[in-house]
Amino acid sequence: MLCLGIESSCDETALALVRDGVLLGQTLKSQIDVHALFGGVVPELASREHGRLIGPLYDQLLAECGVSAEDIDCIAVTRGPGLLGSLLVGIAFAKSLSLALQKPVLGINHLHAHLLAAGLENDIPFPALGLLVSGGHTHIYHIASPLHFRLLGRSIDDAAGEAIDKFGKMLGLPYPAGKYIDLFSRGGEAVTHLFPRPYLDNDNCDFSFSGLKTAAYNLLEKRPELRFNSGMDAPVLPAGDVGRELSGLCASFQAAVAETLRLKLARALGQLRDKTREEGAPAPRVASLLLAGGVAANSAVRAGIRALAEKNGLPLLAPSAALCTDNAAMVAYAGLVLHQLGLCHDLSFPAVPRGEQVPDDYGRFLRYSES
Ligand code: KG4
Ligand code: ZN
Repeated sequence: MLCLGIESSCDETALALVRDGVLLGQTLKSQIDVHALFGGVVPELASREHGRLIGPLYDQLLAECGVSAEDIDCIAVTRGPGLLGSLLVGIAFAKSLSLALQKPVLGINHLHAHLLAAGLENDIPFPALGLLVSGGHTHIYHIASPLHFRLLGRSIDDAAGEAIDKFGKMLGLPYPAGKYIDLFSRGGEAVTHLFPRPYLDNDNCDFSFSGLKTAAYNLLEKRPELRFNSGMDAPVLPAGDVGRELSGLCASFQAAVAETLRLKLARALGQLRDKTREEGAPAPRVASLLLAGGVAANSAVRAGIRALAEKNGLPLLAPSAALCTDNAAMVAYAGLVLHQLGLCHDLSFPAVPRGEQVPDDYGRFLRYSES
């Protein structure tokens, strides 16, 4: 079975073909250059770019994969969360193709697709405990099956990636700063007391990263010389003491984020296990850990969650870096899995920009639960 995936939720226009669980190819165009001038994604510009790029990327994908439109068995498209105008470009394109080719279409939850992406590289042992960390979301899910995602915790303010990007902005790094923070951390030593591990003094699995951001702001206000002078080009670490201190700051900040993520995921795991014991359930409720989203590419985050998995004797499935950031392979894969379970949408399914549940729609999309 061949599934075409379409992703246009934010600032990447991407299309991919997945056949029987194997990625045939992907065409992807990032709009980072367009938005970098503004220090963040400009929704109107994003929609316009998606509209300009999506047709040519579709033609290019089919040509590169040696596939004709008639070979496509189903079409999967991100329905949300994301920017409304951007989602609508992808959805309109998917519905038009569905109509023209007379092939079923599926609207895919972007966050679920991130977590299921691991299935493109390894079989996922379900039930899984998933941590999704991206620029827009920090969510912990219990995933009983590809259809059943239960939200256990989420960020109540900034997402982890957003906090990292804002910290990078304070240091003069280009947007999005995550990969530079990771890169420049390598030469530095993380100092634990520099930044707090925020929002741990409670018994929930939610996150709050705004305090961490404020701590960084207060620290840097007293030390204005700690800045990368990069303009719009690739930043360079200054020489000497300032460079060493900047490296240490990057390492310390990402260590604070990574440790907070690990501690809350450990808490979610512990709470699920306690519940299992209480209920006397025979089977383990968690058979694997999943780590996904752009921030899952971060070396400290990966190391922390890997250590947690090892400590608990669980396999960790984290997609390779290219599958962690926004892509269409994950959308095609999720679409394929859901379609193989007998599911599809009709042409009236809406965009769901905030990811909220739409009861009528889910009534039609039988057995597909999300929270
Ligand atoms: O999942 P994603 O590509 O887009 C969405 O937000 O949906 O995630 C982008 C986020 C940005 O905040 C970016 O700075 C961050 O992922 N990121 C990283 C790294 N690579 C990307 N953060 C830390 N370390 C990295 N290596
Ligand atoms: Zn994403």
